[in-house]
Amino acid sequence: MLEIRNLTKRFGDFEAVRDVSISVPDGAFLVLLGPSGCGKTTLLRMLAGLELPSAGQIVFDGKPVSDGDRNWTVDPARRNSGLVFQSYALWPHMSVRGNVDWPLKVMKMPKADRTRRVAEVLKLLDISQLADRYPNEISGGQQQRVAIARTIAPKPSVLLFDEPLSNLDAKLRVEMRTELMRLHRATGATTVYVTHDQIEAMTMATHVAVMNHGRVQQFGTPADLVDHPETAFVATFIGTPPNNMVPIVRNGTGYKVGGRYMPVTPPADDCLAMYRAEAMTLSDSEGETTLPMELVETSAIAGRMMVTGLRDGLRLTAIVERAPEARIGDTVQFCLPQRPDSWFGPDGERIG
Ligand SMILES: Nc1ncnc2c1ncn2[C@@H]1O[C@H](COP(=O)(O)OP(=O)(O)O)[C@@H](O)[C@H]1O
Ligand SMILES: [Mg+2]
Repeated sequence: MLEIRNLTKRFGDFEAVRDVSISVPDGAFLVLLGPSGCGKTTLLRMLAGLELPSAGQIVFDGKPVSDGDRNWTVDPARRNSGLVFQSYALWPHMSVRGNVDWPLKVMKMPKADRTRRVAEVLKLLDISQLADRYPNEISGGQQQRVAIARTIAPKPSVLLFDEPLSNLDAKLRVEMRTELMRLHRATGATTVYVTHDQIEAMTMATHVAVMNHGRVQQFGTPADLVDHPETAFVATFIGTPPNNMVPIVRNGTGYKVGGRYMPVTPPADDCLAMYRAEAMTLSDSEGETTLPMELVETSAIAGRMMVTGLRDGLRLTAIVERAPEARIGDTVQFCLPQRPDSWFGPDGERIG
């Protein structure tokens, strides 16, 4: 339904989006996930038609809507997509009803149909009771609901969201996440959702594209990313807590793991070993595969303890049943499992 082919966007010499290819079926919830500055907004703006690609194509429902190679794009208003920003940008002089009605008026929808549609979307977003209020008379969370109602009113076949929840407090964010998923089921619109929050991505998405420096590092289902990260970047960006990544370096005839000789057999002389936090344990005494680390953090997580240690810039997190009997700043022995969960090369690419 939505197909992105070799899409690139340059600003002068700088490539903000590099050769991105993704396609998702009708009704998918695609999340673009990555750190600030990785090109998410630029990619979304190209999908909305607000930015012309430097190269590559965008196809909605089998119809090309942008072609960077031919310098051609369909006007934002004529591509049947709706965009919701982080800032709500409601018309301050129009009531909630007026704001939601506005795009339908622009479309020249007959009055009776408009009245029906506005009532329908206000109900869907649970804001019918606010219809006659003005934007300055409602809360930030309610304003965001109005902005979403206004965007879905014309029934766009593609819905685009750019970090729509980042201005809301933590509790409201979790509530709105559920609301947006309900909305997605109710409208069936193919959705592209931009966020830097991996928890949002993992809970909402049917498909995730993890981006870094303008490139897609990995594209797959949330389960794919957790079970089989293809790069060290993905492995350390996904998961709560993120996976541990330990450098292993050949030294003489042996290997140093986090600076200590250990009996390991890595697939290359120089690589990164990934250990899941729940696979790590703590030990009372030093052993063949333990690393002495400074205890820097402990916190309760779902009835278990998350323990973090630091050693020469290496940070390791273990999920264990009980907190160690040590204080912050003390030395704790982190015990690496026999075999890592995955190996990555020095370039960050998965080995095996
Ligand atoms: N109009 C522009 N002119 C020049 N550089 C830009 C422009 N828009 C974005 N960039 C740059 O492109 C990169 C990606 O930006 P953006 O897509 O906004 O990232 P994200 O949304 O992932 O934080 C950034 O380095 C940003 O400074
Ligand atoms: Mg952005």
